[in-house]
Amino acid sequence: MQITTIILAAGKGTRMRSELPKVMHKIAGKSLLEHVYQTSKQIPGNAITVVVGHGADFIRDSLAHLNVNWAEQSQQLGTGHAVQQAAEQIGDDDIVLVLYGDVPLLKFATLQNLLGKADKETLALLTINFDDPTGYGRIIRDATGRVTKIVEQKDATPLELAVTEVNTGIMAVNGQKIKKWLAQLGNDNAQGEYYLTDVVEMAVADGVLVSTCQPQASNEVLGVNNRLQLSQLERLYQQAQAEILMEQGVTLIDPLRFDLRGSITQLGQDVEIDVNVILEGQLVLGNNVKIGTNSQIKNSVIGDNVQIFANCIIEDAVVGANSRIGPFARLRPGTVLSQDVHIGNFVELKNAVVAENSKINHLSYIGDASVGCQVNIGAGTITCNYDGVNKFNTVIGDRAFIGSNSQLVAPVTIGANATIGAGSTITEDCPDNQLTLARAKQVTVSTWQRPVKKDT
Ligand code: UD1
Ligand code: CA
Repeated sequence: MQITTIILAAGKGTRMRSELPKVMHKIAGKSLLEHVYQTSKQIPGNAITVVVGHGADFIRDSLAHLNVNWAEQSQQLGTGHAVQQAAEQIGDDDIVLVLYGDVPLLKFATLQNLLGKADKETLALLTINFDDPTGYGRIIRDATGRVTKIVEQKDATPLELAVTEVNTGIMAVNGQKIKKWLAQLGNDNAQGEYYLTDVVEMAVADGVLVSTCQPQASNEVLGVNNRLQLSQLERLYQQAQAEILMEQGVTLIDPLRFDLRGSITQLGQDVEIDVNVILEGQLVLGNNVKIGTNSQIKNSVIGDNVQIFANCIIEDAVVGANSRIGPFARLRPGTVLSQDVHIGNFVELKNAVVAENSKINHLSYIGDASVGCQVNIGAGTITCNYDGVNKFNTVIGDRAFIGSNSQLVAPVTIGANATIGAGSTITEDCPDNQLTLARAKQVTVSTWQRPVKKDT
């Protein structure tokens, strides 16, 4: 069965009060439209068309990586008119699935359920019962319980308004039939719009059965119209992710204060995450990883038994097993730490490879560097890797000891077992096994006298 999914995303989203088209606002770091896309992409053999209007160019450019056809609705004349703009993509024997780009939490299982009901002679509708149905189209049934039509809020009679079963907007229907009905749509209604919902009455008139199903949870069909709803859906989404992680054995000290904007592609046992941690992109977390409060970790691999203390920022980095990071450490892209490495407070690493058992414990910047094993880098050490135009590398040999407050002016190589005296500015390569220091010799001036204030 060929499925053609049409995602409606042409609306402006006035109530967002934003320059950004509504469907480009994000939940968990990903646009609303991409959430809908990724769910529908799970349907096998599915061809997806997105109908854009407001901000069409921006949406197409931003989401050029999606495997979709784009249709354009230059004027928003209604949901029926929007689907019509994608009519070229609809084959006669397809099942057409209509989704909304601003309804991001819909589950694949619900789509499967809906698609299971749709065939040549059956239009499948996703409906839901709301205690307060205000604003939604009402599902009207006859005395035998058969759906006869959908009536929009603004066109409904008082009796119809009392109906609590509403249209989610999501439907699945035969291609040839919907194309025929779309061509017959009029806009003689309260809003002067071409309503997609009117196809339901046409289906009934053509003897097509209208079958309904409901999502497992009402969250799935909530739409985003303003920033309050955006924040509410963000929390619902995060809560669902947090629950899955806890089921998988992660301790979240407070699931309400945890955000995952991406995915954990590999997860060890007994990971513990303190409050206000943000995980982004693709992550690998080994066994017994502990992440302290307020840390932010993006696209990184964290090995077994690693402890990340509070307030660390880690991006595009690899942290080897048993290492300890922070508090207040920043691992920038290209940082690769072997096992048992200690990175302490106010240490910044960038494009730096550090071998096992090395320590950089306080107030250092190590960039474009290769650091051997069992190296100790003293407080305040800086690799001067940049001359304002070019970047240069620093190489530090195994078991070297770099005294505090040293500047290593790259390109420079520090030998194995070398010791650098504290306060040195190193501009030349330093040999293995020896002490090198580069600082002014200390003098004591015995004849010097402190100036004395004169009495007035
Ligand atoms: C629609 C349904 C209503 C249903 C409700 C569920 C119709 C006529 N009404 O109403 O029965 O209860 O959704 O939320 O279908 N869009 C376009 N082009 C347009 C108009 C809309 O792309 O010309 C897109 C919007 O961007 C949005 C979706 O279609 O993603 C729904 O549009 P919206 O205006 O929110 O429809 P409602 O009036 O809420
Ligand atoms: Ca709506």
